[in-house]
Amino acid sequence: MPGSEGGHNAATPPTARPGAVESSQSFSGDELVGREGELRRIEQLLDPTGAVPRALLVDGPPGIGKTALWRAGIEHAAKRGFRLLLARPAEAEAALAFAALGDLLGEAVDAIGALPEPQRRALRVALLLDAPAGAAIETRSLCVAFLGLLRELSSDGPLLVGVDDVQWLDRPSASALVFALRRIDRVPVVFFGTARPTAAEFTFERLERIALGPLDLSSLDRIIRRSLGEQLPRPVLRRLERISGGNPFYALELARALTRRGESPPEIDSLPLPETLTEALRERISTLPDEARQALVATAALSTPTKSVVTAAVGDPHALDRAAHANVLVLDGERVRLEHPLVGSAAYAMQGDAERRELHRRLANSSPVTRIGHVISRTRRTAPTKRSPPPSRPRRRVRAREALPNRPRRSPSSRWS
Ligand SMILES: Nc1ncnc2c1ncn2[C@@H]1O[C@H](COP(=O)(O)OP(=O)(O)OP(=O)(O)O)[C@@H](O)[C@H]1O
Ligand SMILES: [Mg+2]
Repeated sequence: MPGSEGGHNAATPPTARPGAVESSQSFSGDELVGREGELRRIEQLLDPTGAVPRALLVDGPPGIGKTALWRAGIEHAAKRGFRLLLARPAEAEAALAFAALGDLLGEAVDAIGALPEPQRRALRVALLLDAPAGAAIETRSLCVAFLGLLRELSSDGPLLVGVDDVQWLDRPSASALVFALRRIDRVPVVFFGTARPTAAEFTFERLERIALGPLDLSSLDRIIRRSLGEQLPRPVLRRLERISGGNPFYALELARALTRRGESPPEIDSLPLPETLTEALRERISTLPDEARQALVATAALSTPTKSVVTAAVGDPHALDRAAHANVLVLDGERVRLEHPLVGSAAYAMQGDAERRELHRRLANSSPVTRIGHVISRTRRTAPTKRSPPPSRPRRRVRAREALPNRPRRSPSSRWS
């Protein structure tokens, strides 16, 4: 399977009450438009004296703004002195046992030493810190260990466990998380997560689930102005709001389509516009220069995209700059990230079988590190399936101290609880 990547973790030492999350988008909580009601709910979640359940899951369709809100909430928690344990799992890693747990506990591993021996061992083996001593990891020990660790970490001050896109949590991590969150009581631990509606199975008694609805016209207007620097006339905005159903990602794509066409306002009003988000994305991707599109698809297919591997796979030294210029990729040192997971999945899905095979051949040849996965992809799969759709997001190592301002396989609930 082509491997996109997911993101990751953060925990900070109690002394350095944290900062932030790295993202594929430049976004700060300060820039969040609207969502006043949801922000108030997050404020209650973070209030240690509050009587409301201290676990919140924001649910909504792709592009509605879950990650934007999540980031704002995390940023807020950081300012309030919460220690952060974060994970941003991705589809490609949903099959990797304990990937998300590793992300959550990334920088808190030192605290494992405080646990009783069997728990310590189970957790260290799960996190690949120790080799397994023969037998498989004992699930109950692991779950108890994770619970113990949350208690231990929260003895120092409030702790926030945050997961963006719970639907892509690997199953063992999800089980440990649900086990612990169901039992956490009377300690300052809160959970804040996001999920696409498909993740209905991720649930436990104290978890409150809120649905993120559409944004209104003036919010969409502000987001478009800020992102594209364009003030669209009111009738056009009304049209975008109607077609997009208030989905900011879709509205932005529609606004981009209009901007690309460069029509003056009277004509804009009668222009045909993409009627679905997929159509809007396809339109945008098909207008990219060929090398930029190839760079985008290669990035979407990689679990750890780097400039050198993507450039070698595309065979054009300017491909990445063009893709960055077209705002579909973000270049960050040697690392390459998708501007948004949906752009990557759409570009990957637009590939024909032959193109996809050729891409994986090139990726397999571009670096020994990428070889195995792409040889397997080439031989096993020619197209993404519904069960294992194309990748969606570059692996993002989330570190609490890297500031937010600067810059989501399902399993039955019975197996998660
Ligand atoms: N309230 C908001 N204020 C400012 N920008 C927003 C807001 N909501 C969404 N956006 C912008 O709209 C785009 C889509 O939002 P986001 O990535 O948060 O959606 P999502 O629900 O997480 O999608 P997915 O399910 O694909 O992860 C992003 O560019 C984001 O910055
Ligand atoms: Mg998201």
